Amino acid sequence: MDSITVIPGDGIGPEVVECALEVLDALDAGLSIDVLDHVHADRYRREGQALSEADLSRISASSAVLLGAVGRPDVEETGYVRDVLLRLRISFDLYANYRPVRLMHDRLSPLRDPARRMLDCAIVRENTEGLYSGIGGNLRASSPQEVAIDADVNTWHGVSRILDFAFSTARREVCLVDKANAVRAGGRLWQECWRHAAERHPGTATRHLYIDAAAMKLVTEPDRFDVIVASNSYGDILSDLAAALAGGIGVAPSASLNPQTGFGLFEPVHGSAPDIAGKGVANPFACLLTTALLIRHLGHEAEAAAIDAAVAGSIAAGRVTPDLGGSLSTRQVTQAVLASL
Ligand code: NAD
Ligand code: IPM
Ligand code: MN
Repeated sequence: MDSITVIPGDGIGPEVVECALEVLDALDAGLSIDVLDHVHADRYRREGQALSEADLSRISASSAVLLGAVGRPDVEETGYVRDVLLRLRISFDLYANYRPVRLMHDRLSPLRDPARRMLDCAIVRENTEGLYSGIGGNLRASSPQEVAIDADVNTWHGVSRILDFAFSTARREVCLVDKANAVRAGGRLWQECWRHAAERHPGTATRHLYIDAAAMKLVTEPDRFDVIVASNSYGDILSDLAAALAGGIGVAPSASLNPQTGFGLFEPVHGSAPDIAGKGVANPFACLLTTALLIRHLGHEAEAAAIDAAVAGSIAAGRVTPDLGGSLSTRQVTQAVLASL
C-alpha cells in the first residue's frame, strides 16, 4: 500500500488539506496517510526549525508528500520558507516543478475576448537552482554602502535535466523562456543546453521567448502555448500569471518531482493566504487538483479522474468560493464535491 505524508502547514493550508483528506477518504484509494501537523510556523519560532530529521525520515519512508501551504506574516519569511519548502525540494532533489494550467470554464477567464481564452498548458519550472540557490550575502550590511548579492546558479546538469523533463511532458511544443539577451552567463548556458536538448527530442516543435515577451504573449495568445520551460524564478512568476488566466491561484495545482526516484512533493501553487485564513472561504480546488496529480502519479488514475471531474462539475454548476465569483464556504464546496464523487 502506498503511503503519503501530509503537511497541512499554516494559514489556509490546513483548511484546504482538510478538504483533500475528506475526498481521499471518500474515494477509498487504499493509501495510508501520515499527517505531520506539528510542522508549522509556531514550531519554527520555538525551535528555529520546523522540519526535523525525524520528520524527514518519516517523509522518506512515504511515496509522496502533500503540502497545504507554509508562511505566516509574524515569522521570519525567508528562513522559514527555505527551512520547509525549499528544504524538501532540495533534499529530495525534486528538480522538476510541473504546473499545469487549464481554463476549466469560460466564466473563470479574466480576459474580455473569448477568442483569447483557450488555455491548456504547463509551466515546467527548474526547482533546485537559479536564484534560489541561497549563495550570496550582504556586504557592509545596514549601511548606505550595503551591497546584496544572490548568485543565479545554473548548471549544465540542472538545466539539461529540466529541459529533458519538459520535452517528456510536451504534446506538441516546448517553449524556452529566458532572458539570454541581457543575462550573460546563465543565458549562454541555457541556450546551449537548449540546442542539445532539441536535438535529443526531434519530434517536438520548439520555440524561444524572452521572459518579458512570454508574459505578454501568455495574455494575448494563451492558446499557442503547450509546455513552457523556465528557470526557478521565471517559472515561479509565470505560473502565477498563467494561474490568473485560468481563474486564479485558487485553482492552480503543482507537483515537484524527481522523475528518476519517483518521489514527489505535491503543493498547490498558492501560499497560506493570511488575508483570508480562518474565515472559512479558502478555495480548496487547487489542493484537490494537486491531490489528483498526486494519486495519478501513484497510479490511481480512476480516482484522480474522479477528483478532476468533481471539481469541473462544481465549477460548471457555480458551486464555488468567493475568489471564483461564488458565495460558498470551503466547507460547502467540500460537501458539493463529496456529493458529486
Ligand atoms: P498567497 O498565494 O498566499 O496569496 C495571494 C492572494 O491569493 C491572496 O489575496 C490570497 O487571499 C489569495 N489566495 C491564495 N490562495 C487562495 C485560495 N486557495 N482561495 C482563495 N484565495 C486564495 O501568496 P502571498 O500572499 O504572496 O503569500 C502568503 C504567504 O504564503 C507567504 O508567507 C508566502 O511566502 C507563502 N507562500 C507559500 C507557498 C507554499 O507553501 N507552497 C506558496 C506561495 C507563498
Ligand atoms: C511557490 C512559492 C515559493 C516559491 C515561495 C513560497 C518560496 O511562491 O511555490 O511558487 O517561490 O517557490
Ligand atoms: Mn510562487
